[in-house]
Amino acid sequence: MNAAPLFELKQVSHQFGNLPVLKDVSLQIFSGDRVALVGASGAGKSTLIRLLNGTLRPTQGEVWALGRNVNQLKPARLRQVQQQIGTVYQQFHLVDNLQVIHNVNAGHLGRWSLFKALVSLLVPLEVETATQALAQVGIPEKLYAITRDLSGGQQQRVALARVLVQNPLAILADEPIASLDPTLSREVMDLLRSLGQQAGRTLVVSLHDVAFAQSHCDRIIGLQQGSIRFDCPSHEVSETMLEDLYGAPDGAPDGAQG
Ligand SMILES: Nc1ncnc2c1ncn2[C@@H]1O[C@H](COP(=O)(O)OP(=O)(O)OP(=O)(O)O)[C@@H](O)[C@H]1O
Ligand SMILES: [Mg+2]
Repeated sequence: MNAAPLFELKQVSHQFGNLPVLKDVSLQIFSGDRVALVGASGAGKSTLIRLLNGTLRPTQGEVWALGRNVNQLKPARLRQVQQQIGTVYQQFHLVDNLQVIHNVNAGHLGRWSLFKALVSLLVPLEVETATQALAQVGIPEKLYAITRDLSGGQQQRVALARVLVQNPLAILADEPIASLDPTLSREVMDLLRSLGQQAGRTLVVSLHDVAFAQSHCDRIIGLQQGSIRFDCPSHEVSETMLEDLYGAPDGAPDGAQG
């Protein structure tokens, strides 16, 4: 009864120019998994997320998503796969001067014709779905607000509502709480966890806050300078493993590591 993984990286390496960013990374993520990516700044977390959603092609190895070898898909097929993968970026990627409803409805764009998408900019379509999505993230009253007038936490919720409208099989979130205060961070993490639980969605979230990774995810992958240092159930991650992960790998005194 071994189900096929929803995502799989097979010996993936990635370089930006001459800079090796991921080194021989292999991993499998299954349907319904809740996975946190942790590691110091520059470890390769965002790069890994962009490989998973096919916005980046690896320089070596294979990335499989939803049973497809992403590297080999034609653009139209790739878009179909990407429609099933909702990504929340740290910078929200919202259009500031539009009403919230238009940003939420952007979750439909992969499915809508160009004509419908253009019409929707004049007359908001799917008001009902957008309202429901905003209610789920706790800000239904902001439907017609101008996006730039919202606080950072509210904009993060709009980005989540857009992903909800997309109704993907998997949600990838790149540091979704990096710009939020502790209270909002908890709310957004609770929200992400329950969005995952509701529909058995897979969740992959990169986090600087290891405590949230441990409290809200079942599995933690520790990245260090582009390599996986550990990949295990959250409760098995120890203080020593974290010190090792965030400790200075370069120039550390001999014997300081492992
Ligand atoms: N488009 C790019 N062009 C060149 N170098 C890049 C590019 N994107 C990322 N890098 C480099 O790749 C390395 C890994 O970056 P990445 O953004 O994946 O790290 P990260 O773990 O997400 O870090 P952070 O916690 O700071 O977000 C860094 O050294 C970064 O400078
Ligand atoms: Mg990053």
